[in-house]
Amino acid sequence: MSEPLIERYRDRLPVSDATPVVTLGEGSTPLLAAPRLSERLGRELWLKWEASNPTGSYKDRGMTVAVSKAVEEGAAAVICASTGNTAASAAAYAARAGLPAVVLQPRGAVAGSKLAQTRALGATVLEVRGSFDQALAAARELAARGTHALVNSLNPHRIEGQKTAVFEIVEELDGPPDAFVVPYGGGGNTTAYARGLRELGATSRLVSVEAARRPTTLATAIRIAAPAHAAGVAESGAEVFSVSDEDIVAAWRDLAETEGLFCEPASAAGLAALRLGLVDAARVVVTITGHGLKDPETAAAHAPRAREVDPDPDAIASAA
Ligand code: F0G
Repeated sequence: MSEPLIERYRDRLPVSDATPVVTLGEGSTPLLAAPRLSERLGRELWLKWEASNPTGSYKDRGMTVAVSKAVEEGAAAVICASTGNTAASAAAYAARAGLPAVVLQPRGAVAGSKLAQTRALGATVLEVRGSFDQALAAARELAARGTHALVNSLNPHRIEGQKTAVFEIVEELDGPPDAFVVPYGGGGNTTAYARGLRELGATSRLVSVEAARRPTTLATAIRIAAPAHAAGVAESGAEVFSVSDEDIVAAWRDLAETEGLFCEPASAAGLAALRLGLVDAARVVVTITGHGLKDPETAAAHAPRAREVDPDPDAIASAA
């Protein structure tokens, strides 16, 4: 197992010897060169492959810190509202810590694998008859009553954990790139990257990319009408761009077919902005936030079809 994120960055995280480390081996994810896309886009492009975190998304960076601190503070249970990935991550780290987890998900708007993953991890999954924003408001209300620790990115420990992606990238490139590009859902990750940059004294541009049609985008991970961190994103100095679902799907296919990275659609938002020429920087790191296996329904709808063939070498040769 790679060194737990909390150990790797212990001196820059809000932990002490009294903090129990709840870890699943998160962080230390690959930073991959993207030679073909670099050539096509006329940039030096790097891809931070966050899908290799234990539950398949970058959420684990924040969750290891949030759940460790919840245990330290004596929480009896954790709660979150989620479009799917936070839920799976909360469920996994809560299981690891022996804590119950309650997750609120907007009914009918979470990719199937995320829901199955979260159920399998033993969380109490409640499908809320409403939007993500309404589910988040309810989770905040319950957390305020003191019965559950909130592990959405409004929990400052989540932001602390997630800023470590910036540290890893800068260490690996031996200095900051010209721009960091991340998807923009609730804005927690943008806020976390801004904090990481500030702590390093780096002046790279930070680019945050949202779905143009937030409440209905096919990228369900970022289907959030009212981002909870809108003020933090504005203060962070990040440049915000909006991309269409068609742009997201085109970028998603490019990542898979050109560089071999199968991600979920939300994760392709950053590359979509790059493909549209919106990011004016020579050396760019695009963070790929979640795995393609999280959302097989969208993959099936937008990937080339499989064809049927008889088990006959000649038929196969002519079909291939
Ligand atoms: N990419 C993926 C795969 C996500 O799951 C999310 C957010 C984002 C990007 C956007 O990050 O919200 O920090 O701006 N998912 C949350 C969830 C909302 O509940 O899993 P953000």
